[in-house]
Amino acid sequence: MDAISKSATFSGYSGPSGTYRTGLDVRLAARPKGLPTPGDFEITEVAVPDPAPGQVLVRNLFMSLDPGMLMLIAGESGLPMPRYEVGEVMYGDAIGEVVASADPSLGEGDLVMHRFGWREYAVAQAGLFRRVDRDAYPTLSTYLGFGLVAYVGLMDAAELRPGDTVFVSSAAGATGSMAGQIARLKGASRVIGSAGSPDKVAHLTGKLGFDAAFDHHDGPIEDRLREAAPHGIDVYFDNVGGEQLRAAIDLMNPHGRIAVCGALNRQTKAGPGAGPDDGPGDLLGVLGKRLTIRGFTVGDHLKRAPEFGAQFRAWLREGSIVYDETVIDGLANAPQALLDLVNGAYTGKTVVRLGS
Ligand SMILES: NC(=O)c1ccc[n+]([C@@H]2O[C@H](COP(=O)([O-])OP(=O)(O)OC[C@H]3O[C@@H](n4cnc5c(N)ncnc54)[C@H](OP(=O)(O)O)[C@@H]3O)[C@@H](O)[C@H]2O)c1
Repeated sequence: MDAISKSATFSGYSGPSGTYRTGLDVRLAARPKGLPTPGDFEITEVAVPDPAPGQVLVRNLFMSLDPGMLMLIAGESGLPMPRYEVGEVMYGDAIGEVVASADPSLGEGDLVMHRFGWREYAVAQAGLFRRVDRDAYPTLSTYLGFGLVAYVGLMDAAELRPGDTVFVSSAAGATGSMAGQIARLKGASRVIGSAGSPDKVAHLTGKLGFDAAFDHHDGPIEDRLREAAPHGIDVYFDNVGGEQLRAAIDLMNPHGRIAVCGALNRQTKAGPGAGPDDGPGDLLGVLGKRLTIRGFTVGDHLKRAPEFGAQFRAWLREGSIVYDETVIDGLANAPQALLDLVNGAYTGKTVVRLGS
């Protein structure tokens, strides 16, 4: 990542009403062969135009960082969203405030959610922004959390039942920290998590209330999982794949259910040379125990959003759920933070604060 550069249109720009505002954005500078390095991103200072009729101008406050972005950087197919293109501004979930509007549907000061992350200012058609309530959550960044992902993964993909023993991988991360706690709140009898350091393991059994946890570096994973789940597991919320998936299949009880949320084992080696994940192994165990393995994407389950939002706000109010997040300051620090995120540096949901 080089020093901040200025776009070709930067000098001499004057907006339609004579305003002169600039902001930073982050572009993919080159498509890496494997995992990206900071040099694969370019931070550019650009002129911000006034909104044209039908558009709004939004100043971003927080944006989401997500390991799935590595796959968009690598340009891999198979994801339900377009890859990042070299030379273009990257995108991702963000929350911001309308600072100028040329559309009656949104006004100055409105808080909006949208997909124009990786930039300090976003200008686009008003219909691409969704107004949200400023007071719904204790912090604005909570809107970027992955609680809904965890909720639909448990309720729809894994068909969680009261009394289930639930195993969650990458349990200290954005989705996993929510999945473990929601499983408990929805009636799981035992919740087990895996994570990548002793501190994270202590965080799971301490602050997040997991019944048991282990460090996935302390393999063999099957042995650690057997110790944590002496009576087997009924639901596996899979963020990782690979050895953790194979261990879970071995330890599943009959009619167990696996919700495939992510493939971190594969994603964190993103790139054309990475090859496929080494997979679930011998499927005879799946057959013999009549297991269900179901992949899901949250976008197919958005009808659950109002129900989840109401439930989540109630849990937060009564203090029965911990919303864990790591906040990184400044867009210029976002590329490095994405790399640090997948290397296990943070807990909970990782967001970048763009404005005060
Ligand atoms: N299905 C959907 O609709 C949906 C929606 C959102 C996200 N996702 C996916 O869900 C997964 C989790 O997302 P998230 O945002 O919650 O990520 P996250 O768990 O916060 O991701 C970061 C963590 O990944 C772990 N990790 C990295 N490489 C690993 C490996 N080889 N084995 C095990 N753990 C590894 C690290 O934790 P440790 O330190 O513990 O190793 C790191 O802290 C991702 O695959 C994401 O793309 C799916």
